Amino acid sequence: MTTNAQPRAQWLGRWGFVLAATGSAVGLGNIWKFPYITGEYGGGAFVLVYLACILAVGIPVMMTEIAFGRRGRGSPIDAVRRVVNESGRASAWSLLGWMAMLCGFMILSFYAVVAGWSFAYLWKMLTGVFAGAGADDMVGIFVANNENPLNLGFWSTLVVVATMLIVGKGVQAGIERSVSWMMPGMVVMLAILIGYGVFSGGFGEAWRFLFSFNAGSLSSEGMLAALGHAFFTLSLASGAILTYGSYLPARASIARTTLTVAAADTLVALMAGLAIFPIIFANGMSPAEGPGLIFMSLPLAFQAMPLGTLFGILFFVMLSMAALTSSISMVEATVSWLTDNKGISRRAAAWGTGIVLWVVSTLAMLSFNLGADWTLAGRNVFDWLDYLTARWMMPLGGLGLVLLAGFVLKSEILRDELGLSPRAHALWLFAVRYLAPLGILVIFADALGVARI
Ligand code: PHE
Ligand code: NA
Repeated sequence: MTTNAQPRAQWLGRWGFVLAATGSAVGLGNIWKFPYITGEYGGGAFVLVYLACILAVGIPVMMTEIAFGRRGRGSPIDAVRRVVNESGRASAWSLLGWMAMLCGFMILSFYAVVAGWSFAYLWKMLTGVFAGAGADDMVGIFVANNENPLNLGFWSTLVVVATMLIVGKGVQAGIERSVSWMMPGMVVMLAILIGYGVFSGGFGEAWRFLFSFNAGSLSSEGMLAALGHAFFTLSLASGAILTYGSYLPARASIARTTLTVAAADTLVALMAGLAIFPIIFANGMSPAEGPGLIFMSLPLAFQAMPLGTLFGILFFVMLSMAALTSSISMVEATVSWLTDNKGISRRAAAWGTGIVLWVVSTLAMLSFNLGADWTLAGRNVFDWLDYLTARWMMPLGGLGLVLLAGFVLKSEILRDELGLSPRAHALWLFAVRYLAPLGILVIFADALGVARI
């Protein structure tokens, strides 16, 4: 093994990290996953637990990850090992880095399929497939798009190739450049959609659905889903934020950037909910439609809007780009680890990773057609990848990281790296020692039926 002697790349612009990290955070998780799991778990109570998890767990974990990345200046495996060694502790903790890297890779394997839906729907918008279609037709179009593995595989392959093209170009020329121009556009599109939602007649019902916290209406399964989603939506415990943090210039404030990224991500998720549920309710669709939710409801809304095709095209362009700014962050950990340790070029690392990724994402893609009944305990490949990462790997990886930061490392190391005021530091320390670990453990214990809360 050789270690790269060159200084590590850094973000070029002042906003480089914030844009890249926000690009990573804001993605299909906000616009596709948040609405459909909120629908499945019944609304308000789920949203409340999710917001609590963002505050109590997500924000402290994100700060910790960035601090690890910047201190260790490497991929999750190398950065964690270096920081741990600096404290004179065993390298075994770098297993956390391995799990994070694997997790990012597994997420992209199913994420590529969903991003592929977005690309396919952009194409359908462009070619007028939705003209005159009603709510039932939308379901039919979604099903038909999935049925043919060659069709669906074409789109997921396209996503893998696009992701690897960007990552292969490098941190500044690939990642930073691609994220710096599409984030604002997405917010504008969502605002327009909410505007439409207000007038479609279902807005009041959607508002109540999202924000009336009906205590007791959330199952422990739902709480675990809310915790997992808090990790997923902020791109935590999957190598993404930690690796991006490894390119962060020494002077940047970790706390401020974390708050910006978390606020932007939460805002977009709530906006997406407020844009999508009115359409669902106004058209008598079910909020518990599952993964196809936005692909069935949004084309319907666009169709009824003046200039709807134009908005529809813009929307799916934005959604596809939001997906890409996230997908590139999922493999950056792997690509950076390969280039740092295996003596190969970034381009070679990207394509090597891409080939393995393509194989796994194709297996996930087949879950919607040929492999629909390759199931284990009722879950197909796609479901397993989603379930293992969001429910287990991310919360457990986050737990390991905060325990490591809170109890194992020499306290000066991260204090130095975070550079907070004494009071803010005490708050962070309280969060990583008690708040976040207890939050994660309580939700796990409840879900495993160990204790009722
Ligand atoms: N945060 C992204 C989203 O909400 C998903 C993601 C998960 C990105 C893990 C990177 C790592 O869509
Ligand atoms: Na997100």
